[in-house]
Amino acid sequence: MSRMVCSLAPGKVILLGEHFVVKGMPAIGAAVTLYARVCVSRGQGRVESRQLGLLLDLSSNTVNDKGLYRVVEELAGRFGLKRDFHATIDSEIPISSGMGSSAAVAVSTTHALLSFAGVEPDKKVVWEVSFEAEKVYHVRPSGVDNTLSTYGGVMVYERGVFNRVKTRWPDDVLIVIADSGVKRSTGSVVADVLNRYDKYSKVMSRIYDAASELVRDAIKSIETGDFARLGELMNINHGLLSSIGVSSRVLESIVWAMRDAGALGAKISGAGRGGIVIGLVETSKVPSVIEKIKSLGLAPLVVQIDDEGVRRAPDNRTSQG
Ligand code: MEV
Repeated sequence: MSRMVCSLAPGKVILLGEHFVVKGMPAIGAAVTLYARVCVSRGQGRVESRQLGLLLDLSSNTVNDKGLYRVVEELAGRFGLKRDFHATIDSEIPISSGMGSSAAVAVSTTHALLSFAGVEPDKKVVWEVSFEAEKVYHVRPSGVDNTLSTYGGVMVYERGVFNRVKTRWPDDVLIVIADSGVKRSTGSVVADVLNRYDKYSKVMSRIYDAASELVRDAIKSIETGDFARLGELMNINHGLLSSIGVSSRVLESIVWAMRDAGALGAKISGAGRGGIVIGLVETSKVPSVIEKIKSLGLAPLVVQIDDEGVRRAPDNRTSQG
């Protein structure tokens, strides 16, 4: 059987503090148990995605994913990666919904290509290389997506500095994700919020201070395992997000469906106006939350925190290659 190496890397959700983070307030993100898996074997410089088709074919200079091309160039320059690989990506992370799917793919591809080239995939290197891809995908990436995907866990970030929140997240507190299916551009939502900030700066600066206070309180709640308090803080955070103009009728209906079904807290996660809503839900309430979300015609995802970040994955091939 030809040699094949596989890696997987998690997606993420923002638990609290999105938007306010743009003006230097702290935010909390968490890696979650939805993965981009990449397997590499000997081939002719191709990268394919089960979801998106052909991304790179170096033999014919086809570059449909400039971020991954950047990863390959970086690995060639730093470690002498040759064009003798075939990478297959299979990701269960929803695309374009603020869950860091492109970062998880870049992290996992970097990890798998390094392993394939016989280089021990040091996390610092994986972080650096995947951040190069993030710079291709996003104008000014905060680094939160590839940081959480590389290292896992729950992290607080503020002005580009990341710190792990010490937590032993209990198995019976889950995160339910509902994708509204409404697509929007993060850039334009952020621009609208900043305009509102300028127009009502005295009022807005107090909302931003409240958001900062809220995140600091939430860090303590996570550290001490007070998830009822964390849920309430998420509800308050959602109110602040509504006040800066990023909620919508659809998002409110999802948030209230989760609360009605017994979630400890529910809020927009990410840029808002569309994208995803997250709920903090105890195991006993998960079935009713799922049912409520399904009744809105949406397909919920139930996840836990991924503490580990990127890692080797088993090669699940059943047939001989
Ligand atoms: C989008 O996922 C998160 C925002 O806070 C923007 C950003 O931090 O760059 C809205």
